[in-house]
Amino acid sequence: MTTLTRFRDLYAPYTHFENASLWYGVFDRVMATQSDGNLETLLDILNDLPAISQPMQVECNQDAVTISADIDYNSLQKANAVLRGLIPWRKGPFQVFDISIDSEWRSNLKWNRLKDKISPLKGRKVLDVGSNNGYYGWRMRGAGAAQVIGIDPSILAVIQHFAINHFIRDYNHVIFPFKMEDLPPRREDFDTVFSMGVLYHRRGPLDHIQELYDALRPGGELIMETLVVEGIDGYSFVPPGRYARMNNVWFLPSVATLKTWLEKIGFDDIIDIDLHMTTTDEQRTTEWKPGDSFAEFLDPNDPTRTIEGHPGPLRVTLRATKPTEPGRLKRYHL
Ligand SMILES: C[S@@+](CC[C@H](N)C(=O)[O-])C[C@H]1O[C@@H](n2cnc3c(N)ncnc32)[C@H](O)[C@@H]1O
Repeated sequence: MTTLTRFRDLYAPYTHFENASLWYGVFDRVMATQSDGNLETLLDILNDLPAISQPMQVECNQDAVTISADIDYNSLQKANAVLRGLIPWRKGPFQVFDISIDSEWRSNLKWNRLKDKISPLKGRKVLDVGSNNGYYGWRMRGAGAAQVIGIDPSILAVIQHFAINHFIRDYNHVIFPFKMEDLPPRREDFDTVFSMGVLYHRRGPLDHIQELYDALRPGGELIMETLVVEGIDGYSFVPPGRYARMNNVWFLPSVATLKTWLEKIGFDDIIDIDLHMTTTDEQRTTEWKPGDSFAEFLDPNDPTRTIEGHPGPLRVTLRATKPTEPGRLKRYHL
């Protein structure tokens, strides 16, 4: 069996999805043109997860997504070896039996800041763009989302999701190894679309917002979280060189500019959810993500600046609605 077939087989339980053939079609197209040298090794690691027949309890409504079962010592050891084999874990935390995955980001903090300020997810079909390993997707399922589809080009993050779902066995939460721009345009499928931590990675931020708009059904809701800078409406900062050591950061708009971008694409009812500076309380080195982290990305003499001297990481979260009627702002599309 080829590596690609082994990977594709992991998606076999999702054929009940509406438009399943579309998702499998994108998978085949994307995977035919890209190769991740680690895929085979990651699949081998995943293969060592213990089969567990005991009933599993899953709790997605607390800070750590928690899986418990009465399992034997050998199974616990095997699970521990696999989960550690998938280091680094950037998003979490997860509690898998006795194993506490203390990820680099305490993603529960971001979730707690927004969860009560978005339209209730109960019964909603959700797209999580840049889902990473699906931590937020579990919180969305815990909040009652009917289905969560994550997309993320990081194969490691996708495999981490399969490792967690090996135990949870929830076939209404999946992560595909795609970028947003890999999806066919104008799906209009989703009730809620999340784009958190992705906009600044896109060279064409307005194109990204357009793709998010097109993925929503009329009346659907976008949750947008991104890095911003202080500034007037119209201002955005393109960092020369790296930003906080990242070499793939393009546009950091002011909050007012971001709102204008959303309006120009056609969103309505743009509402502030949160604005705050990232701290070492939220992003830090742990045993599950060794090496440098946020503390090393800042100027040691001035923590309001990045190590390169740029304005420090300020993040905004907004919600916005796709109108039910295409409105007057369509003039921008001429
Ligand atoms: C900064 S992380 C944010 C993860 C998570 N959404 C959060 O808010 O914590 C950005 C994630 O987006 C993914 N990503 C980068 N470019 C993307 C794209 N064009 N489409 C979808 N995901 C992308 C990365 O692989 C990474 O997992």
